[in-house]
Amino acid sequence: MEDKKLIFSGIQPTGTFTLGNYIGAVRNWKPLQEEYNCIYCVVDMHAITVRQDPVKLRQNTLNSYALLMACGIDVEKSILFIQSHVKTHAELSWILGCNTQFGELSRMTQFKDKSQRHADDVNSGLFTYPVLMAADILAYNADLVPVGVDQKQHLELARNIAQRFNQRYGDFFKLPEPYIAEIGAKVMSLQDPTKKMSKSDDNPNAVILILDDKDTIIRKFKRAVTDSDTEVCYRDGKDGINNLMTIYSSVTGKNFTEIESEFSGKGYGDFKLAVGEAVADHLEPIRTEFARLSADKAYLKKCYTEGAEKALRYSQRIVSKVYRKVGFVDRT
Ligand code: TYM
Repeated sequence: MEDKKLIFSGIQPTGTFTLGNYIGAVRNWKPLQEEYNCIYCVVDMHAITVRQDPVKLRQNTLNSYALLMACGIDVEKSILFIQSHVKTHAELSWILGCNTQFGELSRMTQFKDKSQRHADDVNSGLFTYPVLMAADILAYNADLVPVGVDQKQHLELARNIAQRFNQRYGDFFKLPEPYIAEIGAKVMSLQDPTKKMSKSDDNPNAVILILDDKDTIIRKFKRAVTDSDTEVCYRDGKDGINNLMTIYSSVTGKNFTEIESEFSGKGYGDFKLAVGEAVADHLEPIRTEFARLSADKAYLKKCYTEGAEKALRYSQRIVSKVYRKVGFVDRT
């Protein structure tokens, strides 16, 4: 790999990506490939921290891999792989776990949320999830991690774990920086714009999936919750409209002033329709490319097999050094 800064990021294969995943993270992954060495991963090991149907998980993992390619991740430029194919993540996770405090993990807001939502299965994987995420990043000594705002706390923990390891064993890990987009780092639910758009939302109208067809997308935007005002403008308290403006801005490239003047004197109905159409048109090529790629199973297999080989080669060098640093005996 050329001597450029290294980017690492991952996404869970729990069903199709949402527009939040796309705008907040995945769409930024593509342009980063021009400037950085990029490593991207479908994190199936993270997904099993909540109950998964094995048949669906396998299918969702393959679909997520194809979907990342359809979103422009180029396997010639970047390393794209499936987490469970690369054993170094689990190996490093154990060592990092021994350098993470129970108290730190207890403070993770995502753990608190998820343990409430899955109260019948608060397993230890759910608790130590952020350690595995730190291992994903540190196994490559990544410089930058492009994520949405909801992952910021996990990233801060990864930095703290790296720092603690460095203090105990001598400087080794870089402290990874979050890379958070200015616009769209938190896309909100269409039905409750004070809440993040999330795959696990029970209301399908709250979430746009990036494989939704045009009619569905337009219908969901038409039903989006806004306010009793009539003016399309970005202001405190207008959460629904602010969210729609953010989405419209990120798919059209128009700034808020341009959007305000485009819709001045028009009603929310016109605006919602325009957002729906712009999103559907933006996602159309991804849907087409996804259909093409997912039909070519042999090609996908070649890509993820080669991706895993490259990721293993890269991370093995780093994890072997970590083994030596903590005092494990060399195997050879
Ligand atoms: P996950 O799979 O929940 O989400 C993938 C990415 O999408 C972002 N995202 C959003 N951005 C804006 N608005 C939203 N409504 C929205 N919903 C999701 C997330 O911030 C994320 O960037 N733990 C991670 C996956 C992971 C990872 C890693 C990420 C595992 N190892 C190492 C970076 C580096 C997760 O569950 O993301």
